Amino acid sequence: MNFIISTVRHNQHLLNDTAKKWSDILQRPYIVRENLTLDDMLKHCQAEAVLLVTSKGPKVYNKDGYFFYHPSMAKLRVDALRNGGTDHLVEAMALKAGMRVLDCTLGLASDAAVVSYVVGKSGKVLGLESSELLHFAVQYGLRNYNKADTYFTDALRRITTVLTDAETFLQTTQEEFDVIYFDPMFQIPVSKSSNMKPLRSLACEKSITRDLLDRALQLAPRVVIKERYRQYLCNLGCTEFYGGKYSAIKYGVRLR
Ligand SMILES: C[S@@+](CC[C@H](N)C(=O)[O-])C[C@H]1O[C@@H](n2cnc3c(N)ncnc32)[C@H](O)[C@@H]1O
Repeated sequence: MNFIISTVRHNQHLLNDTAKKWSDILQRPYIVRENLTLDDMLKHCQAEAVLLVTSKGPKVYNKDGYFFYHPSMAKLRVDALRNGGTDHLVEAMALKAGMRVLDCTLGLASDAAVVSYVVGKSGKVLGLESSELLHFAVQYGLRNYNKADTYFTDALRRITTVLTDAETFLQTTQEEFDVIYFDPMFQIPVSKSSNMKPLRSLACEKSITRDLLDRALQLAPRVVIKERYRQYLCNLGCTEFYGGKYSAIKYGVRLR
């Protein structure tokens, strides 16, 4: 994706150095904001998105609005588990402390945060994301988000991320995991949330193939896929299914 780097208008002089640093890291042009509107910047630079430096971290602007890191429902899900509740993903993964989990579709890392909390310090969560902008914003959020309790922020800090597509990673790694997880973009979005629309236009929308799952099963005895339709999960070879009776989503499991 063709993107540029700039700052919000307020207090630009305090944000310029960070913008230059991100421009070096990401090898994308830094355009001084001055009084330009974001739409004008996109037009003049023929870019699809602007990565903005703000005092609270990265914020991405594109034709669909703003995207920034937030933990979504993860904190509520972790708190439910702490209060003795259950979580369908945790059940589908048969998750326990100490397990090694590969999340092939990191997104906002909301699922990864729940998984990281359960596997704890003795476990491992590695998240893959193929969108450079999403990866940058979410990696920053995982390292810096600080509004919640320490048990939650510690779980975020323990997640390791890699900017790569799952296909390349799975073909080249020799590393073994206890569970590999896929949550591809749904063809028809469930959420109408305003932060999901820009995420969608930044995200990779590839579907999961049986070949990819076959490769995943060479590296882990259990593969979990999140989808809307049970038939789709059956076609991918899933034999176990989890999720609430009235829930819009299902988790399918393939075992080695
Ligand atoms: C539906 S979101 C995942 C949401 C995530 N489970 C969460 O809890 O926030 C799918 C994400 O996976 C990424 N993605 C899709 N296909 C991918 C692939 N083949 N390799 C790496 N990332 C992929 C997309 O860019 C998007 O950010």
